[in-house]
Amino acid sequence: MIEVNNLCKQYANGFMALDHINLSVKKGEILALLGPNGAGKTTLISVICGIVNPSSGSVTIGGFDIIQNYRKTRSLIGLVPQELTTDAFETPWDNLTFSRGLFGLPKNPQKVEQVLKDLSLWDKKDERIMTLSGGMKRRLLIGKALVHEPQVLFLDEPTAGVDVGLRQDMWRMVDALRIQGVTIVLTTHYIEEAEAIADRIGVINGGKLLLVEDKQLLMSRLGQKQLKVELMTRLDNMPAELAAQGFRLAEDCLSVIYQYDKDGLEVNIAGLLQSVSDAGLGVKDIHTQQSSLEEIFVDLVGESV
Ligand SMILES: Nc1ncnc2c1ncn2[C@@H]1O[C@H](COP(=O)(O)OP(=O)(O)OP(=O)(O)O)[C@@H](O)[C@H]1O
Ligand SMILES: [Mg+2]
Repeated sequence: MIEVNNLCKQYANGFMALDHINLSVKKGEILALLGPNGAGKTTLISVICGIVNPSSGSVTIGGFDIIQNYRKTRSLIGLVPQELTTDAFETPWDNLTFSRGLFGLPKNPQKVEQVLKDLSLWDKKDERIMTLSGGMKRRLLIGKALVHEPQVLFLDEPTAGVDVGLRQDMWRMVDALRIQGVTIVLTTHYIEEAEAIADRIGVINGGKLLLVEDKQLLMSRLGQKQLKVELMTRLDNMPAELAAQGFRLAEDCLSVIYQYDKDGLEVNIAGLLQSVSDAGLGVKDIHTQQSSLEEIFVDLVGESV
């Protein structure tokens, strides 16, 4: 549905914001783009949506080139921009009705009503937009992107500044759109959001796409597990036989930790515990823990700078 080939963007001041990006997204897929501030996420979305001109490379949406078939590709796309730009004096109702018109779609008051209700904005439909709260304005932007029934939806930090309840509503909406076959690319700084809704994760830093991978695969490939054995008493010196097995002492000296690859060879937890007790240590409790997407992300981005 989206094909990005060798895309580069150098801004007028010479800054290279996108450096040979290659990416393809299938129909009905949800891709989350993660990356620190200034990584190039908004630039990438802006080029794909035809708001920023690429310096080189190409992009197609549903097989149509974004430059040669600008109107066609634009009609397939919905964009929720990162920056709030809404017309202060209009009402939500007029704003959404007008947005449909912009895309050459016939009037459809039922659709506008449904979108406003889905976003809990129905009771504000006739208020001036300037009187809405920040989170409500952001919801209206989402409504603007949905009202022309796009096949590809770009959400640039859709839940920044949005409360917990609405964030979950949003996740449900995204899920419903996925079921309808809408292709979705979102950026977020909330890693749990990517973890909750994305099929694939892309990590971008310094204008380069560091990786794009299936979420589950990424977590099992780069994720690590650890076994933490809490001890009855403080341990000042690590017994040599445990160190030789790969245990290390926790900083507080109250537990020993064994780290292993999630998909590595079978780990014999019972044997490990036996070794701890053979070393004469009393076991108070045990915990196993798996590294989160957040830890994986911080590792990746840290390595690339
Ligand atoms: N019009 C412009 N002229 C020059 N440089 C720009 C322009 N727009 C963006 N940049 C630079 O391009 C880089 C990428 O910006 P971009 O907005 O794509 O980052 P981002 O990944 O969306 O960051 P954030 O998480 O903060 O939204 C930044 O260094 C930014 O300063
Ligand atoms: Mg951005």
